[in-house]
Amino acid sequence: MTTSAGSAASAAPAAGDPAATAERASSPHSGFRLGKSLVVAIDGPSGSGKSSVSREVARRLRAAYLDTGAMYRAVTLHCIATGVDLQDGVAVEAAARGIELFISTSPDRESVTIAGDDVTAAIREPEVSSAVSAVATTMGARAELIRRQRALIAGAGHRIVAEGRDITTVVAPDAEVRILLTASEEARLRRRGDQLGGTQTDAQLKQQVIDRDARDSTVVNFRQAADGVVTLDSSDLDFEQTVAAVLDVVRTIAH
Ligand code: DC
Repeated sequence: MTTSAGSAASAAPAAGDPAATAERASSPHSGFRLGKSLVVAIDGPSGSGKSSVSREVARRLRAAYLDTGAMYRAVTLHCIATGVDLQDGVAVEAAARGIELFISTSPDRESVTIAGDDVTAAIREPEVSSAVSAVATTMGARAELIRRQRALIAGAGHRIVAEGRDITTVVAPDAEVRILLTASEEARLRRRGDQLGGTQTDAQLKQQVIDRDARDSTVVNFRQAADGVVTLDSSDLDFEQTVAAVLDVVRTIAH
């Protein structure tokens, strides 16, 4: 696999990459703590590389994987599609409670459906990215999604890597391993730009990364690690090095 320093998110292996599949099959971590609870909670800001890194860590551990941001995105898409006013907190909370949402917890299969309709790609559209903070800052909607996230963690038999903004502090504060994955602002903007294939202007990138984090951090603190949470700065690490660093923390803490 080719990687370049500081491009953790963009250097993630594609699903089905034969080299990555072979590496996983021989992963020395796949039997780690089998039969015991192993919840790995990972929080971090946009562009920290946490989704691709968390997914790969889950594969190596043969654990489930939960992308909680995808759930906030799904509720946002549902509100847009059904004409719910995103400024109306009561209506947004009702939408979060009523949504028939399915999210795959397999690290090898990214799938999100609403009432049976596949929305896996649609939740990544810019329209959703720029509106999602309205759902993330509606406390009633958060409470409902947190309840569902805890149920998904339990449903995965507590062998799961769950990532988002409040997993280490609110969703799973008792997780065996809790990590805050950070990166410098420069690295995060560069990674998100690479991820979007260089299609965005600097101003658009700033809006999607820095401004969105500023709005979201009014309700959850993902800028500083809470007590007992390990901070991992990936600014100078490539994808493989970041995965290895997370696995090191897992094996050191959850022995
Ligand atoms: O990680 P992401 O960009 O897909 O997250 C989408 C939005 O959801 C983001 O604006 C922050 C919010 N979010 C949150 O508030 N709490 C979480 N646990 C996960 C995501």
